[in-house]
Amino acid sequence: MHKNRFSRIGFILAAAGSAVGLGNIWKFPYITGDNGGGVFVLVYIATVFLIGMSIFIGEVLLGSSTNKNAVTTFETLAPKEKQYWKYTGFTFLTGLLILTFYCVVIAWIFNYIVMSVTALPTSFKESEEIFMSFLKEDIYTQFIYYTLTFIMVAYTISKGVKKGIEKLNNILMPSLIGILVILLIYSIQLDGFMKAVDFMFMPNFDKFHSSSIIVAVGHAFFTLSIGMVTILTYAASLDKNTNIVKASAIVVIMDTVIAIMAGLVIFSITFTAGQEPSKGPGLAFIILPAIFHEMGTIGIFLSLLFFIALAFAAITSAVSIIEPAVMYLVERRNVSRQKATYGVALFAYILGIFVLLSNTSAFSESLTFGSKNLFDWFDFISSAILLPFGGIMIAIFIGYVLDKEILRKAIVPYTGEVFYRIWLFSIKYLAPFAVFVLMLKESGIITLN
Ligand code: PFF
Repeated sequence: MHKNRFSRIGFILAAAGSAVGLGNIWKFPYITGDNGGGVFVLVYIATVFLIGMSIFIGEVLLGSSTNKNAVTTFETLAPKEKQYWKYTGFTFLTGLLILTFYCVVIAWIFNYIVMSVTALPTSFKESEEIFMSFLKEDIYTQFIYYTLTFIMVAYTISKGVKKGIEKLNNILMPSLIGILVILLIYSIQLDGFMKAVDFMFMPNFDKFHSSSIIVAVGHAFFTLSIGMVTILTYAASLDKNTNIVKASAIVVIMDTVIAIMAGLVIFSITFTAGQEPSKGPGLAFIILPAIFHEMGTIGIFLSLLFFIALAFAAITSAVSIIEPAVMYLVERRNVSRQKATYGVALFAYILGIFVLLSNTSAFSESLTFGSKNLFDWFDFISSAILLPFGGIMIAIFIGYVLDKEILRKAIVPYTGEVFYRIWLFSIKYLAPFAVFVLMLKESGIITLN
């Protein structure tokens, strides 16, 4: 086995580590709440498996067929006269933007891990005040945790694929799954559990609008880490002779199951406390802490477990976000892994400080442009525009540029002809169409209700 490549299980855990993140435990439950539950969950699952998984398999196929960084991969696989494909390296920018606000949220999580054992808010009102004052006034604490996050992420990446990324995921991913199982078992005996199951799986068209479909498509990209060559880059360190379809399917299933588990846990707790799930991004940081306090000692324990799980999920994702740029610099610019890591991390760190400050009272005015502050802009530009754009690009490359023989050889031996055709149909038609509509909607060219 190549000394700096993932083992098969190492790859699955690392790719799942990338996919499972804030998107699953923080974002999925609140967008499900906002979009009325049932129907949204079904649309989300359909999108993840019909569109998301196809692109995921595509990224794994590209990375594992060259074992090189993303730019070299596109360069090697594109026909000679189509060398402009190497400019797909612009996707590194997507990662940079995501990493900044991602690490700011990880800093909030660290604060809530500490708060779980020191002082949970005693009411919803107090909880909201605490969160808002932390966000707007407490620059110092946010800055300390934010810095700590970057040190951890950079240290892991600097250690390389095997000793850094694989090792981290081998520890954090099983722990995360263990914690979620404990939380789920606890939730099952709560009064609100059946209500949570109903909410998530019984179709309810009241709150579901056509725009919910677009939310589901956008989230499918974000949650699977596709559209910015992260999965491609991890797959470049995959040992040969891996069944890439099976490995991809396992990761996509893990990602979906974990999102659903997180949803069930959060909604069971929320319904048991007599609260409504449509509370937006504040669901995890405002509603849950107050409920945990009401539960007494067990609540402290649950709060600790919940925020530790969230931190584990987020750190393994943050690590994956900078690997594409680092691998590129190491392979193409002859930079040492350490230098590449610290260079990329430092750049993102500095940019992220502005993102952090854009939420604070002191700086929000100067860091708000139009209707959004920098934090919201970076989230919007990366998730709503750059990721889908990257996704469409990968789908077009595989569906229309790449030699069909390469595709056939990589897929058919593992799955047979029928799956191959469905997959190609999704890559060539479904994925580009869905993403195209998504981008029209986000750019305001079309409006959906
Ligand atoms: N998939 C991660 C999540 O659901 O939180 C976010 C993410 C990680 C997006 C890595 C993109 C990426 F390259």
